[in-house]
Amino acid sequence: MAVAATSSTIGSFYHSRSQRGITRPRMAVRSSALSAVPILTSLQKNCATPLPVLRHVADAMAADMRAGLAVDGGSDLKMILSYVNSLPTGNEKGLFYALDLGGTNFRVLRVQLGGKDQRVVDTEFEQVSIPQKLMFGTSEELFDFISSGLASFAKKESGKFQLAHGRKREIGFTFSFPVKQTSIDSGILIKWTKGFAVSGTAGKDVVACLNEAMERQGLDMQVSALVNDTVGTLAGARYWDDDVMVAVILGTGTNACYVERMDAIPKLRSHMSASGRTIINTEWGAFSNGLPLTEFDRDMDVASINPGEQIFEKTISGMYLGEIVRRVLLKMAEAGALFGESVPEKFSTPFILRTPHLCAMQLDNSDDLEAVGSILSDVVGVRSDLCARKIVLEVCDTIVKRGGRLAGAGIVGILQKMEQDSKGIIFGKRTVVAMDGGLYENYPQYRRYLQDAVTELLGSEISKSVIIEHSKDGSGIGAALLAAANSNYAHEF
Ligand code: BGC
Repeated sequence: MAVAATSSTIGSFYHSRSQRGITRPRMAVRSSALSAVPILTSLQKNCATPLPVLRHVADAMAADMRAGLAVDGGSDLKMILSYVNSLPTGNEKGLFYALDLGGTNFRVLRVQLGGKDQRVVDTEFEQVSIPQKLMFGTSEELFDFISSGLASFAKKESGKFQLAHGRKREIGFTFSFPVKQTSIDSGILIKWTKGFAVSGTAGKDVVACLNEAMERQGLDMQVSALVNDTVGTLAGARYWDDDVMVAVILGTGTNACYVERMDAIPKLRSHMSASGRTIINTEWGAFSNGLPLTEFDRDMDVASINPGEQIFEKTISGMYLGEIVRRVLLKMAEAGALFGESVPEKFSTPFILRTPHLCAMQLDNSDDLEAVGSILSDVVGVRSDLCARKIVLEVCDTIVKRGGRLAGAGIVGILQKMEQDSKGIIFGKRTVVAMDGGLYENYPQYRRYLQDAVTELLGSEISKSVIIEHSKDGSGIGAALLAAANSNYAHEF
């Protein structure tokens, strides 16, 4: 909605529509919500992302990538080597599994690969939500829960898929947290993100944690590839399209990976790959340079379980947009009486307002913004007049616009870095950015803001050859493909 918070436009908040759709002025009643307008005006100013801000973010992203490639700890961006040095060719064959742990759910996937002609013959999957208490429990509890999910998935096969004698089922393990890979099938968890605070995993090899849990279950499975979700997405998308060079996740959390030349990674002089290329997991969620932040972002960060970390993620990803909006609205309610005199207790519950609520509110096209009113009443327990609802929508739009545009600037930063290193590799041809994650998939306004920023930064000509493509659930297939490519058994593909 394009209503700027000026006194002239706020005048239109004074009208309500009768059932016949005739606008009648509410002359005598001045909505108390209007006192929140100065807070809105200052929010819009502090969250603004005009072209120079976007340019600064894109340039800083490219510079931080270089610094992170030069030396470990050289910048906020970890620029982690994935050990994925060759991408799927399409020839991969056989039965493989993927296990995906990255947010509030974990998924198990069985993929039958049929080689060049048949490609993906069949997939089946099961999704299990992770009980909240396990996100704060012990490492053993979490991995036992995951491997029991795996066991029940495998049990349902009841002998349908036979593997050669003595052969274990091979898994591509997508683990979507910052991991320092030590090989294609091992890696040390650096820290948890996205609200996870499981004790006893940081500093440990997550594949060993899973293997031990699988042994406790007596499962005949083994991890052949450990991959970040961005890397799985890139591999999965590249299976169908050779022009995929970058993959981005915009969901609960956020991250990006891309195809890098080995000789452009000074910190890894000794490690060579036959292809001369590898995939770098940027862990861009930790980026923080030059972001337009507000008191609400800072307060949310201080109250988080990882203060001072993942600032880009906290500004643009799905886990946090709803919480930022809640904090703004709470201030408007307390200091500006946005919803009348009293503020219900539940309004103060962190993370009670979620990003899907913002999206549902922004999709409300009704004259009286009925859906906005019911979400506010159901979720945070307030009654709102039309004026308050319009202000709420303005707040949502401000935060979502900032997030989408900054994500777009981040993507351009990566493309810029790749292009600067080898002219023509990106901007001289069709280049695909594979994108996945619920925020991108389900939030049309966010998607539009992201695309607008990319077009503004690259100009209309160049941006035509940069294709941002939704690669739904590509990371599961991608992980299975990488398990196939790194199979421990002899294969002909
Ligand atoms: C993690 C990344 C992951 C991203 C998207 C971030 O919190 O640090 O490893 O790729 O979320 O799931």
